[in-house]
Amino acid sequence: MVLGSFKCKTHWRLHGKEARDFFTRAANFSYNSKKSLRKIFKRQSVKKMNMSWDNVVVGVVGLGYVGLPLAVRMSKFFKTIGADVNQQKINSLVHGIDYTGDVGDAILHDAIESGNIQFTNRAELLKGANFIIAAVPTPVSKAKVPDLSPILSAAKTIGENLQKGTTVVLESTVFPGVTQEIFGPAISKYSSLQMGVDFFLGYSPERVNPGDKEHTIDKIVKVVSGQDEKTLSLVAEVYSKIISAGIHRASCIKVAEAAKVIENTQRDLNIALVNEFARIFRLEGIDVADVLAAAATKWNFLNFTPGLVGGHCLPEDPYYLTHRAREKGYNPSIILAGRYVNDTIAEDIEKIILQGLNTRGKAASASKLLIMGLTFKENVNDCRHSGAKDVIDRLREWNVILDGYDPQLTEETILKEFRVQPLDLNKPCHKYDGIVLISPHKEILKFNLKTLASQCADKPVLFDLKRSYSAIDAQNAGFLYLHL
Ligand SMILES: NC(=O)c1ccc[n+]([C@@H]2O[C@H](COP(=O)([O-])OP(=O)(O)OC[C@H]3O[C@@H](n4cnc5c(N)ncnc54)[C@H](O)[C@@H]3O)[C@@H](O)[C@H]2O)c1
Repeated sequence: MVLGSFKCKTHWRLHGKEARDFFTRAANFSYNSKKSLRKIFKRQSVKKMNMSWDNVVVGVVGLGYVGLPLAVRMSKFFKTIGADVNQQKINSLVHGIDYTGDVGDAILHDAIESGNIQFTNRAELLKGANFIIAAVPTPVSKAKVPDLSPILSAAKTIGENLQKGTTVVLESTVFPGVTQEIFGPAISKYSSLQMGVDFFLGYSPERVNPGDKEHTIDKIVKVVSGQDEKTLSLVAEVYSKIISAGIHRASCIKVAEAAKVIENTQRDLNIALVNEFARIFRLEGIDVADVLAAAATKWNFLNFTPGLVGGHCLPEDPYYLTHRAREKGYNPSIILAGRYVNDTIAEDIEKIILQGLNTRGKAASASKLLIMGLTFKENVNDCRHSGAKDVIDRLREWNVILDGYDPQLTEETILKEFRVQPLDLNKPCHKYDGIVLISPHKEILKFNLKTLASQCADKPVLFDLKRSYSAIDAQNAGFLYLHL
C-alpha cells in the first residue's frame, strides 16, 4: 500500500483534475450495484442469449499473474468482470495500479477508461457473465500433495453465482481429471445446475512465461478444450479474439490438462539434468558451461543451463502429475528424481560460496555478503518459491551477515520475505566480503564490476548464478569468480 499510495500521488500530479475524476469513477465503479452494472454493460440478459461469441460477457475469477493480463486483454473485445477475493488487489486495480508488473499501469488505465472492465470482490457480479474463466492458484502442501482448496473455493464462488447456459473455463495448471471430476461437480453442487446440460466446462491452460515481454499472452498458441463439440467451438472462438498466435483444439479436456502439466514437468526435468551435469563436472574439475557449449554444436542438443528452479509453476506442477500417477497406481521415478535434484541446488550454491570465502581466507561467520536479485527469476517481482530464500537460509546457518538488494521489490518485502537487511544505497562503502547475484534484473546489470568491487572489502568473491559477468572481467576487478 505504501507503493500504491506513492503511485497514486504521482498520477494525481501528472493528470490533475482528469486523474481525480478518473479515480473517483474507478472507485465507485468497483461498488456498482447489479442494476447500474446492467446499465453500464447495456447487454441482453443471459437467458435471452444465444450464447455466441459476439454477446459474451467474460468473468475472470482470480486476478493474479495469469488472470489480470487475461482480463485486461479480454476487455479489448468483451465486457469483462474481473473478480478476486483479495480486497487489496481490487483496491490497487481500481486505482489503475498493476501489482503484477506484467500489464503496465498505462494499459490498465486505458482498459479502465474504456469502460469495458470492472474489478470487484463482489462475487454476485459474476451473475452478469456468461463465459467465466478461473485462474486461481494451484499450490502443493508441505507434503507435496496438490492443494485444490483455491480451485474448490473458486468453484463455490462460481456455482453460487452461475446463470444457466454459462460456459466455465479453468485456466489453472492441474492434473488430468480436475476440471471434470472435481471443479465441475463442485460448481454443480453450489449452483444446483447440471454439468453439460445447464452449464458447460472447458479447460485452457495459461502458458505465459513470467517477465517475457516477447511471448506475451496474445503471441502464445492457445490450447483449448471443451466437454462437447459446441463448447469447444465457443471456447476456441472466444480465445481466438484475443490470441493472434493461433488456437490448438485439444481432443478432450484431459488432454489439454495433461499437455500443460507436462510442459512444465519437461522443463523442470531438463534443468535437473543440466544441474546434475554441473555436479558431475565440478567433481571432474571442468566447467559445465564449456561442456554445454561444446555439446550444443550438435543440432539436436537441447539448450538448458543449470540453476535454481523457483516460481509458482515448475517447483509445484510436476507434483500434480506424480500425484495423479500414484492415484492411478503408477509410481513415477524420473519426475521425482528431477524434482529432488532441483530442490537441492541451494545446497550446492552454499558449498561453493563457503569454499570461495575459505579460499579467500575469510571465515563464514565473520563474512558479510550482499545478495542481489531476490525474486525467483530476473525482471519479475514474484518471489514465490524463490531459490534466493533457500540460499539465504543456508548461509544464515553459518552466521554470515546478509544484506539484500532487489529493485523489483520494496524494502518492506525484502525484510519480510527474506529477513535480510535491505542494501543502504546512501552508504559510501559496505565492505562486503562478497556478492551473490541470483536473479540479474536489468537494473542490476547496470552496475559494472568496478562499481560492485567498490562496495567490497579486500579479496571479495562474486557468485554469479546466471553468468551475467565474464569470469575474466570479474577476476580483473578483484573478485574470485564463482558459479555452479
Ligand atoms: N504465474 C505464471 O506465470 C503462470 C503461468 C502459467 C500458468 N500458471 C497457473 O495459473 C494459475 C494461477 O497462477 P497465478 O500465478 O496467476 O496465481 P496468483 O496467486 O498470482 O493469482 C491467483 C489469484 O486468485 C485469487 N483467488 C484465489 N482464490 C480465489 C477465489 N476463490 N475467488 C477469487 N479469486 C481467488 C488470489 O487472490 C490471486 O489474486 C496457477 O494454476 C498457475 O500454476 C501460472
